[in-house]
Amino acid sequence: MLYCFIIVLGLCIGINCLKCRGPEFVSRDDWDARPPSEIGIMQTPVPYVVIHHTYKPEACYTKNDCIKKMQWMQDFHQLNRSWNDIGYNFAVGGDNRIYVGRGWTSVGAHTPKYNDKSIEITLIGDWSNETPPLSQLITVNQLILIGIREGYIIEDYKLIAHRDVGQTECPGDALYREIQTWQNEIAGRNVRIPNIQNIIPRRPAN
Ligand SMILES: *[C@@H]1O[C@H](CO)[C@@H](O)[C@H](O)[C@H]1NC(C)=O
Repeated sequence: MLYCFIIVLGLCIGINCLKCRGPEFVSRDDWDARPPSEIGIMQTPVPYVVIHHTYKPEACYTKNDCIKKMQWMQDFHQLNRSWNDIGYNFAVGGDNRIYVGRGWTSVGAHTPKYNDKSIEITLIGDWSNETPPLSQLITVNQLILIGIREGYIIEDYKLIAHRDVGQTECPGDALYREIQTWQNEIAGRNVRIPNIQNIIPRRPAN
């Protein structure tokens, strides 16, 4: 009983710290991104946020591992698929860091018809059978809130899953179920992230 209490307490403290510190952004330089071959400038603020999973690569829980996964994705998207750059605007790792893909102001590549009016966020991993850790979900919500605060996403934005607007199982059944509850419950509303303006760069590098 006490043991259980301690675990729950620890979990709450962990989550609260995550909220008060604000998430860490990993810039393109930090993950050693190749430059984009071309950039489409996006009109902001955008009215949509599109949620993806990567399916492949699988989840990562350390910065080193997540960096490798970012590089793998950029290779796949740029070299195999001949896109301009890694497809997503941002990727959130199981290490609770935010990896900058195309950033806030460049058109993404994953969701035809929505690419030029959405921020596309992927949760690194295959979330078909397993829900991402709560801390990773919170990081996604923090990212959305930062986007609103910085004027890149409209306040009453619409959260959509890739499968809502494309022929795909992305973002996986488990994550899809999870985000059904977000529009009213978490996203942009109940998760508060005070005092992070001094901690995160105001405009993460594109
Ligand atoms: C991408 O292309 C490289 C080189 O042609 C190939 O070896 C690799 O298997 C491809 N990757 C995927 C995931 O298809």
